[in-house]
Amino acid sequence: MALDPEIVGAALKRLRAPAKAASGNAHAPYSGFHVGAAVADARGAVYAACNVESASYGLTQCAERNALGSAIAAGVRPGTLEAMVIYLPGEEPIPPCGACRQVMRELMAPGAIAVTCCDGAAIQAWTLEELLPDAFLGR
Ligand code: THU
Repeated sequence: MALDPEIVGAALKRLRAPAKAASGNAHAPYSGFHVGAAVADARGAVYAACNVESASYGLTQCAERNALGSAIAAGVRPGTLEAMVIYLPGEEPIPPCGACRQVMRELMAPGAIAVTCCDGAAIQAWTLEELLPDAFLGR
C-alpha cells in the first residue's frame, strides 16, 4: 500500500527531531547502532526513547519498545498511537526488528504507521499491518 505522503510528512515533522534527540542517549557499546524512536499521543505529548544494550546481549532493549513502554507507563491507552518515527544516524535507515513489529502492532492503533529516517534523504514507511501481516494478537 502506498502511504499518503502528507501523513508520512506530518509524522516526520513532529517526531523526527525527538527520535533523533533520543538516539543521542542510546547505550549501544556493542553494536554501535544508536537508535531513537518517538510516538505522540492524541494530545500531542511525545514519548521518545533509545536502545539500551547489555553485556548479556540478549537482554538488549530496542528503542521502539522502550518508546512504547514510556507512553504506556505515562497513561497512554493501548490502541491510540497513530505513528512512530525511528531514526538512525548515517545515510541508511533501519527497519524495526521482528520483536518490535509484534509489540508495535499490539500497542498502536489499527492502521498506524511506522516511518524510518536517517541523516540522508532516504526514508521508509509502512502501516503496521504491512510490517507484520497476520499478526498474533491473542484472544
Ligand atoms: N535495535 C533497535 O533499537 N531497534 C530495532 O528495531 C532494531 C535493533 C537496536 C538493538 C541493538 O541495540 C542494536 O540496535 C543492534 O541490533
